[in-house]
Formats: sequence, structure tokens, C-alpha cells
Amino acid sequence: MNDNNFFRASIYHCIETDGNIEPIYIPDGLMVVNKESGRIVDIGRYSDLSNNWDSTNNLVHFKDRLIMPGFIDTHVHYPQYKVIASYGASLIEWLDKYTFVEEQKFSDNDYADQIANLFLDELIKNGTTTVMTFCTSYKQSVDAFFNASEKRNLRMVAGKVMMDRNAPEELCDNSEDSYKDSKSLIEKWHNKGRLRYAVTPRFALTSSKSQLEQASRLLNEFPDMDGTKGVLLQTHLNENDEEIERVRELFPDSKNYFGVYDDFGITGRNSVFGHCIHNTDEEYQKMADTGSKVALCPTSNLFLGSGLFELEKLENYGIDVSLASDVGGGDSFSMFQVMNEAYKVCRMNDFNLDPVKAFYLTTLGAAKVLNMDDCIGNFEAEKEADFIVIDLNATEIISQKNKISSNIKDTLFNLMTLGDDRLIDEVYIMGQRTFKK
Ligand code: GUN
Ligand code: ZN
Repeated sequence: MNDNNFFRASIYHCIETDGNIEPIYIPDGLMVVNKESGRIVDIGRYSDLSNNWDSTNNLVHFKDRLIMPGFIDTHVHYPQYKVIASYGASLIEWLDKYTFVEEQKFSDNDYADQIANLFLDELIKNGTTTVMTFCTSYKQSVDAFFNASEKRNLRMVAGKVMMDRNAPEELCDNSEDSYKDSKSLIEKWHNKGRLRYAVTPRFALTSSKSQLEQASRLLNEFPDMDGTKGVLLQTHLNENDEEIERVRELFPDSKNYFGVYDDFGITGRNSVFGHCIHNTDEEYQKMADTGSKVALCPTSNLFLGSGLFELEKLENYGIDVSLASDVGGGDSFSMFQVMNEAYKVCRMNDFNLDPVKAFYLTTLGAAKVLNMDDCIGNFEAEKEADFIVIDLNATEIISQKNKISSNIKDTLFNLMTLGDDRLIDEVYIMGQRTFKK
């Protein structure tokens, strides 16, 4: 009787010790995964581990393949599946013209179910195994997403958008209902299997003061406790000049945009702020002081013309950062393409995004931002075996470039620059294959 499955391939992941990221590359490696729990038991060189484990019966050998942890996308909007590639508008106009129109369709449960499933299919074929997503202000849109995720045994975070002003009436809730609906969704879904809940005030522009107070109340009612993770919070911050100006007018008593969220008690280590591209130094400092987290969205920032983030600055302040697609503001589901655009944004600031760092920001670093680095993000023993199988010869140009790479860093850079969904050959969730190209 054998309790384990064995995967032989080139393996890449990274570990982090005292803030230092260490890339681990095993050209001919073996990963041992417990069949029952779907967790990693052992990992190392095939030549070393094959003496300790009898893998003859349950061995999968991936040739010319690289396995690595599934990607984690820390800021995305599943209802915007069909908003992707909407032409010719910056943030506020894009919200009014395309996004708020599409999100109204999610009052229909069948539509929400259909899009949730299409969205998850698209994620998986792109190698993304975990996301934190906004839903819509309709409660049922959250059920649709969690139901579809639960069926696939995915580790996911989602939340009902709280939005009670400056949006079409059909999409607006009110602060009391948004509290009650969010609370009942938390009770239903948070920490159910692999699922977690994120309190989701859309952004300061679409929430009244009393709604932000209700968001804070929810965070306080479901905190981290006795080894059980509390709810997260997701919102937007400093994405667009017009947005920032309007927030200033709506909240004249707050020092700055981050200050609005801080004044209402919704900052801290469980809070993830999308974008943060026009932060002032004071805001960076306050983010660092409160332990707040960041999701950078380069594809979206370029697509909507919002601006260029400052990764080096965020890192110098010691703020935990991750990369995210922000679909449908972002124009690609592929985290390879998100890394590609992140590299270019950094070049515009005369800074080089190291490929090891880029992959960290979409795996272990992203897991850390979601407070999930104890269960996903790399291949340490006991972690959940969500991993992707990359075809190193998926396209001619990638194959040719990889042949002349002298080390794993070069290969990673080829993948992040030239890669997309064509590279994802297989996807495993908790050690079980769920996708094969
Ligand atoms: N700010 C508020 N809502 C949104 C959204 O849906 N997408 C983006 N990119 N920014 C936002
Ligand atoms: Zn967003």
C-alpha cells in the first residue's frame, strides 16, 4: 500500500528566511505528495530521494517540464470577465460606461454561475490556482463564486462589494444591509474548506462614512484567533488622479486617501490595497506602520492609463507587496504577462525587476499578502500541493531562448517575458490533476 504520489521533473520554487528570498532549482527533482491530504511530504533531488521512497507504482515523470507553485493573483474582479478589453476610457469613465453596466447582470443567479465557471476555467488554464476577487454588490454573486470554487476544491478569497453611493442605484446597497449581507456570507463561507472571505468596500468614492464604519465592524468581529485566520479586506487606493481628487472632496477631514481608510479602522495586516500608484511618502510610511499590504496591477495601470507604480519605494518602506491582474481593468489573465508588464513599469523607473523577485511576487510573496503562506506559495513540507507544469518548449522562440539560457534566472526571465497560457501544460490542485492542455 502506497499513500503517496510521486512527481519527477525540474522543480522551481523559492523560500524566504528573515526577509531573504532564496530561489531553489532542482534540475531533476522529486516531489512526494500525500494522496489523502493533498499535502507535500518531501521534495529534493531525484537521485537522493529515490533511495528513501519507493516510487515505482505512483510515479509521474514530466519530461522537458518545469513544475512550480500555482500562481496567486491578489486583486481581480471575476464579474469583469467580459469587461476585459473595453476600449478608450480611463478609470471613472470605464467604470460608468462598461463595468457598472456589466455588474448589474449579476442580479441573475444563472448569469453569475455561468461567469464564475468561465472565470475559473480561464484562471486554471493560465496556471492561476488562487485569487482574491471582488464579486458584485449582489449577495448571490458571492455564492456563485464560492460554490464554483468549492466544487473544484480551490483555495480562494472573495467578498461582496459594499457600495452605497456614486454608482447606479441598482448596484447600490446601504450600510446596514451591506453589513448584514457580508456578515451572513462570512458565516456561510469563511474558512469553509479552502475558502476565505474578504470584506470588500469597493473604494472610498463609493462608500459613505457609515458604510466604512460597518466594514471596520466586520473586521473587528472576525479577527485572527487561536490559529484561525480572520477575514481579509480588499479595496482600491490611489489608482487615478481624478479618483484621488474626488476622495479628497468627499473626506476633507482625512489627511490623505490612505488616511481615509486608516481613520475608519480598516487598515492593517489583513487589508490588501490594490494599485497604490500615486501614494505620497506619508502614505507609504503609514502603510508600513500599520502592516498593510499591496497588490500592484501593472497590466491594468497601463491599459487604463492610470500611472506607474514604484516597487522599489514600496520595498524600501518594508511593505509586503504582490502582483495582480486586476481583470477586467487588466487585459490578461496570465501572470506571466503581469510580470512582463511589471518589468517594463520598473524599467520606466530605471529599476530592474529581478525574475526571482517577479516569481516571488506571484507565488510566495502573494501568499504572504493573503496571510496564506503557511499553506500555499511554495513547496515546503505540509503545504498544499497546488502546482503547475510548464512546457519549456511550448513555443519555438521560448524553446530557442531556453536552450541558450545559462541558468534558471535566464529561463525564468524568458518565461515571464514571452510566456502566456500556451506554457501551462497541466495544473494540479491538492495533488490531483485538474487541467491538461
Ligand atoms: N476602483 C473602483 N472599482 C474599480 C474596478 O472595478 N477596477 C479598477 N481597476 N479600479 C476600481
Ligand atoms: Zn480592481
